[in-house]
Amino acid sequence: MANEAKEKLIAGLNDDLALELAGIVRSVYQASTAGGLLGHELRELLQKELPVELQHAQFLADKIAILGGTPTTSIAEVPLPVDVGKMIDEDIATEWKIVSRLRERAGQAESYGDIGLKIRLEEMIADGTDHANALQRLVGLTQ
Ligand SMILES: [Fe+2]
Repeated sequence: MANEAKEKLIAGLNDDLALELAGIVRSVYQASTAGGLLGHELRELLQKELPVELQHAQFLADKIAILGGTPTTSIAEVPLPVDVGKMIDEDIATEWKIVSRLRERAGQAESYGDIGLKIRLEEMIADGTDHANALQRLVGLTQ
């Protein structure tokens, strides 16, 4: 049972890692192609967020390794919109998706008895929420 819970936790963390890695690639793509004033604002925001995403990915990979798993090097699918509005819509949706996945993972970490991991995941949830809110502000959306 404990082993099964651990395997599930590792598998979930690996899916989260694939999303974080995709987030890095998506940000690099968008920062280089987003045009116009809104594109400029998006670029500024993404460049500020990139080091945080890299930290998230490294943390997840470290945790997977210490749990005895193999950190994935595959990345989740990266859409390639040309329109800046579509990029931002995509980014907002993805941030909320990650937040919801991390909430599930924090619950698994607690059941597994790793409260330190639960707290780190909750910090990532806070980062994701801040990031989603900053993107929403760019296009005048409320939460
Ligand atoms: Fe992240």
